[in-house]
Amino acid sequence: MKNFLEGVINRNNDKSDMGKVADYIPGLSHANKNHIGICIINSNNEITQAGDTNIKFTIQSISKPLTLMLALLDRGEKYVFSKVGMESTGDAFNSIKKLETGKMRKPFNPMINAGAIEVCSMIKGEDGEKKFKRVLDFFRIISENNTLNINEEVFLGEKETGNRNRAMGYFLKGEGLITGDVEEVLDIYFKQCSIEITAIDLAKIGLFLARGGILSTGERIVSEHIATIAKTLMATCGMYDGSGEFAIKVGIPSKSGVGGGILSVVPGKMGIGVFGPALDTKGNSIAGIAVLEEIAENFKFSIF
Ligand code: DON
Repeated sequence: MKNFLEGVINRNNDKSDMGKVADYIPGLSHANKNHIGICIINSNNEITQAGDTNIKFTIQSISKPLTLMLALLDRGEKYVFSKVGMESTGDAFNSIKKLETGKMRKPFNPMINAGAIEVCSMIKGEDGEKKFKRVLDFFRIISENNTLNINEEVFLGEKETGNRNRAMGYFLKGEGLITGDVEEVLDIYFKQCSIEITAIDLAKIGLFLARGGILSTGERIVSEHIATIAKTLMATCGMYDGSGEFAIKVGIPSKSGVGGGILSVVPGKMGIGVFGPALDTKGNSIAGIAVLEEIAENFKFSIF
């Protein structure tokens, strides 16, 4: 397996030349475009890795299915999906247009920015700090990594430049979908996007989902149903407006982030973490997708 993964990395690392590192948030642009790494952890907890698996990067949108699971624990499925839908948009992750023109009158799904901001407003806690601490603790538990923390520079950059997100937050408040303080909700969103992880952390989270919400210790953290909701939304909306093509070419439930990470779950079998900061035009890791495509084809991992 190790040799195979090294071969996959070597065959695909030049794909990064065609992509571009995200630079719309100060702090993201320092990433080295040529980094590429993959980590796979199977259900026997055997770790296989190749390439740049120890480089830290920010989790960005991969945080979305994770915070969704915490919101489902906090509020239950009925409440959560009364305020956010389950349908893909076919639009970019930061698109605003369906918020008002879409028939749903709520964000279409929790994987786009508007939906993720809505989900952040559902996290329980006495104040913003405590709510975010619960999010961070949840990420630490499911990644089995107590050292996870935010990258302060990226957080401040998100906060400073996140005016589209701010606009969506206030629109949601205007619609009565967010009832609390919008800036507090946005801070939770910006902070969760700024949590630093590695491809290894992603593979651990992937394995947690592959096991249906169970840690490597055997401890259950979320119900199988909640894990299934997260995996299903990853499969239908996890790669934004590239989700359909990715489902055909790769067919592994996955979630991307503009930090260059991809979290992938082969249900019942393994968690996969991929890192490659050069992105395609939709905000997905360009080499990361190529690597997953080769792996899925070789091992017949498509769930379809
Ligand atoms: O809201 C944003 O712009 C980012 N903090 C998260 C975006 C993200 O990762 C979307 N990605 N592919």
